[in-house]
Amino acid sequence: MRERCMVKRRTAAAALLTLAAVLVGCVALKESRPLLPLKEYEKMIAGRFDADYIGTENCLKACHAHDKIRRDFDFSTMGVQLSRQSGLPLVNCESCHGPGSLAIEGITPEKVRADAAAGKKTECNHKTFIDIKKLPAQAQSLICLKCHTANATFNLHNWNASSHNMADISCSDCHPIHVGHNLKVRPRETTALCYKCHQEVQAQFSLPNRHPVPEKKVFCTDCHDTHGGMGSKNLRKETVKATCTQCHAEKAGPFVFEHADTGEDCSVCHTPHGSVNNNLLVLREPFLCLQCHTTHQLEGVTSPEMKQAFYTRCTDCHSQIHGTDLPSPSGQGRFIH
Ligand code: HEC
Ligand code: HEC
Ligand code: HEC
Ligand code: HEC
Ligand code: HEC
Ligand code: HEC
Ligand code: HEC
Ligand code: HEC
Ligand code: HEC
Repeated sequence: MRERCMVKRRTAAAALLTLAAVLVGCVALKESRPLLPLKEYEKMIAGRFDADYIGTENCLKACHAHDKIRRDFDFSTMGVQLSRQSGLPLVNCESCHGPGSLAIEGITPEKVRADAAAGKKTECNHKTFIDIKKLPAQAQSLICLKCHTANATFNLHNWNASSHNMADISCSDCHPIHVGHNLKVRPRETTALCYKCHQEVQAQFSLPNRHPVPEKKVFCTDCHDTHGGMGSKNLRKETVKATCTQCHAEKAGPFVFEHADTGEDCSVCHTPHGSVNNNLLVLREPFLCLQCHTTHQLEGVTSPEMKQAFYTRCTDCHSQIHGTDLPSPSGQGRFIH
């Protein structure tokens, strides 16, 4: 037990050094918060240094106020982690809340019974725990990151630079630990999760033309890694094109006749979420095309319908707009076939 505590203390110390650096940076940026002595930040994240780790058994022995939390946690992926050598859980209440000996000082089953008889609820001295909810978001996340390092949880490699971390969103904003025993976020649940904060995106997915996200055929997480990505906007792939061609591979090219370099960035013509225009176009045809081209007349075309066509859908003729391997009648790349 003692040895385990030492290991924990040492891990905590390493985490603290990182935290100190992060916090000093953060606090300096946020001038509204006074800069505290370093020791205060250490306490915030490690809990009271004068308290000891006592284990879940001892924490919860005397009272049953947290029975549901405990049961849920015990059945969760984190709760079932056991150390091979000791048989002790690798993750327990104190991993996140800090050492608990001070909190339960003086609480005995007798006291709990006596309080109950007097109609009182026995409260542990929870002020001696880490005040998680009051910590700056980055520090809250650090509680998780001491175990969920980028090595252990691969998709956290880009977390530090992700827009969520930068915007003071913490792990528990998306992963509430005590909701139940299933801590896995399933794709079907992501839409509701993301809409809590991204109402502007919800509005885009209510437009008449959209990726079938509301129909749960495509998910936010198909295109985004919420823990951060190599490119911008938390995209799963390095570029917009690579993100899109995961599913629309036939548009990837290379083609003998490329549409100049427009094919390198699908968002020149498409919006990813939803649009008032067909095919998720940023602008309707022909206006989309007329941003970069002038319209033209074909020799021999006299019928008014055909002339009219010029002003509506250029892609009626230029149907291979994403690029083609076949030349046009004049032997050039006009995206006709
Ligand atoms: C993986 C980290 C983690 C572990 C392990 C953990 N908790 Fe928590 N707990 C949190 C966080 C984060 C919060 C605050 C945010 C929240 O309510 O989700 C919290 C909040 C709480 C609260 C306050 C709930 C409220 O509504 O304010 C209680 C009580 C609690 N935990 C008890 C426990 C007990 C008992 C255990 C062990 C069985 C435990 N926790 C294990 C992270 C953890
Ligand atoms: C003491 C170490 C430790 C701490 C602290 C910790 N975790 Fe974990 N967590 C684990 C282990 C071990 C697993 C199981 C193996 C895995 O999935 O990586 C796990 C699994 C998870 C899972 C996956 C659940 C699943 O079913 O796949 C989530 C989500 C998670 N943790 C979130 C958190 C969050 C959020 C925090 C901070 C509030 C946190 N963890 C803090 C050790 C920890
Ligand atoms: C903005 C929301 C959000 C934030 C913030 C967030 N996550 Fe996640 N996390 C998710 C979603 C969604 C998934 C589902 C897997 C995916 O990305 O496809 C997930 C998956 C995971 C998993 C794998 C278990 C699973 O459900 O597949 C772990 C472990 C995890 N996150 C840990 C963390 C930790 C640790 C942090 C903080 C450093 C964090 N997450 C921050 C949304 C978030
Ligand atoms: C607790 C609130 C919250 C939740 C939940 C949340 N986000 Fe965010 N998200 C933010 C904030 C704040 C920002 C940064 C400010 C901004 O650009 O809107 C952000 C930024 C982003 C960005 C990058 C925007 C940019 O300009 O770089 C993407 C993409 C994103 N979130 C996707 C998601 C997805 C997908 C989910 C669901 C899995 C999700 N978010 C859940 C709050 C949240
Ligand atoms: C088909 C892929 C795809 C899906 C599905 C998707 N996104 Fe995006 N999203 C993108 C791309 C691509 C961008 C960046 C466009 C750019 O860089 O101009 C983006 C940008 C964003 C941004 C930044 C907003 C902005 O205007 O810059 C947020 C926030 C966001 N997405 C959230 C979400 C949420 C929430 C969901 C699910 C409800 C979702 N996305 C589903 C591809 C997708
Ligand atoms: C996870 C797979 C997936 C990814 C990634 C993806 N799409 Fe799609 N896309 C779909 C599906 C599914 C449809 C709907 C097909 C249908 O309804 O027949 C669709 C439809 C479309 C449509 C036609 C919409 C219409 O009006 O029918 C366009 C345009 C499109 N996607 C462009 C993009 C772009 C641009 C990206 C990258 C930002 C992208 N897609 C990323 C799966 C994906
Ligand atoms: C120069 C503008 C332009 C660019 C760039 C562009 N598209 Fe398109 N895309 C269109 C137009 C116009 C349509 C409608 C075609 C039609 O009406 O026949 C379309 C239709 C689509 C469709 C639905 C119809 C189909 O052919 O399957 C998908 C999917 C699509 N584009 C994906 C992509 C992807 C992925 C990229 C990036 C690699 C991309 N587009 C780049 C103009 C463009
Ligand atoms: C962002 C600008 C842009 C948009 C939007 C755009 N194109 Fe292009 N397009 C180009 C460039 C650049 C070339 C290459 C011109 C060159 O090689 O002379 C090109 C080439 C072409 C060519 C072959 C011309 C040639 O001389 O070989 C055709 C046909 C064409 N585009 C049709 C369209 C149509 C139809 C649309 C609308 C659906 C469209 N383009 C939208 C920029 C654009
Ligand atoms: C009725 C069919 C048709 C329509 C509609 C049409 N085009 Fe064309 N376009 C052609 C043909 C055929 C060629 C010449 C092919 C060849 O190389 O033999 C061509 C050539 C082009 C060229 C190459 C340069 C030039 O001027 O010859 C561009 C650029 C172009 N079209 C853009 C557009 C745009 C933009 C629209 C919509 C406003 C449009 N086209 C509508 C059939 C059409």
